[in-house]
Amino acid sequence: MHRIQSVGVLGCGLMGSGIAQVCLRAGLTTVVRELSDDLAAAGRARIESSFEQAVRRGKLDAAGRDQALTGLRTCVDVEPLAQCDLVIEAIVEDLEEKRKTFVAVDAVAKKTAIFASNTSSLTLTQLAMATSRPERLIGLHFFNPVPVMRLVEVVRTLATDDKVVACAQAFVRSLDKEAILCGDNSGFIVNRLLVPYLLDAIRAFENGVGTVEDIDRGMQLGCAHPMGPFTLLDFVGLDTVFYIANIMFDEYRERRFAPPPLLKQMVQAGRLGRKSGRGFYDYNA
Ligand code: CAA
Ligand code: NAD
Repeated sequence: MHRIQSVGVLGCGLMGSGIAQVCLRAGLTTVVRELSDDLAAAGRARIESSFEQAVRRGKLDAAGRDQALTGLRTCVDVEPLAQCDLVIEAIVEDLEEKRKTFVAVDAVAKKTAIFASNTSSLTLTQLAMATSRPERLIGLHFFNPVPVMRLVEVVRTLATDDKVVACAQAFVRSLDKEAILCGDNSGFIVNRLLVPYLLDAIRAFENGVGTVEDIDRGMQLGCAHPMGPFTLLDFVGLDTVFYIANIMFDEYRERRFAPPPLLKQMVQAGRLGRKSGRGFYDYNA
């Protein structure tokens, strides 16, 4: 199977911009698709600012940054994705939106292109069967922040071709990340364990077990977690966690995956975490 030289990234929010950044750092031509010109410009600005930060922290020189950015293209239509060897979807965690997007890209992508989804909780089979190439669709689940986190879960379905899995694993290694192989179960390995923990932290707070700050300090200082659960919830995005919890609860029907009422209310109130300026913590203060 051929080497991946050009990558399409669908969605340039928190995850799509990080995925695009690591692909650019690996010297790959990277075509990013967003919903509008404004969102594409905002996505490009996010990538540029992260490169800027890398230069400021001495991790990359200005020439390396400029070289990486020459590989970046942004678009709104799907046609510019036609020549990509691999298309990674990182749009909103919604089955119908993802299905619609894969159908549109399937119509223009070359026959040999591999499709991947960065979904946190949807099973891949239902996305694969919406395309004309179920044997060429896999899960590539990156972690946030993408430039820092070394893990990628590679998820295969019953339909995935072995050569596609091997190609995906080689691609992950080429980004200097480590792949673990997972079956097509909602939440894969990490979120199956992490999501009930995050939801339980909200339930503990709802039940008056401790303050947001003390629960965070407890897990940081008591268990050496880099972030307490509420800081991590705000970091991931409360809307995204709410979608993930609903999808996992629908799949497993187990209470540990059920979204707590407070999470729902915070999303309804527009308190989405860092991305909206306020979640369990206030980032405007
Ligand atoms: N982009 C690039 N680099 C970044 C970065 C970003 N957004 N944020 C931090 N870094 C780098 C910094 O440059 C720094 O690098 P050096 O040490 O080499 O200088 C390093 O990361 C540490 O950064 P800071 O000192 O600024 O901050 P920190 O020590 O508090 O670390 C953190 C920040 C890496 C985010 C750390 O707090 C952490 O690991 N948090 C937990 C993250 C986590 O659990 N992620 C998984 C989320 S769940 C998920 O992704 C799955 C899902 O489906 C929801
Ligand atoms: P986000 O809200 O930050 O970004 C989503 C982006 O997708 C937005 O910019 C939106 O404009 C764009 N978008 C929506 N529909 C689109 C379409 N049809 N075509 C192109 N762009 C479209 O969300 P995120 O946190 O980056 O999450 C994206 C995906 O990654 C989700 O599936 C999520 O579950 C998964 N994920 C998130 C995290 C996390 O920590 N946030 C970690 C791992 C995986």
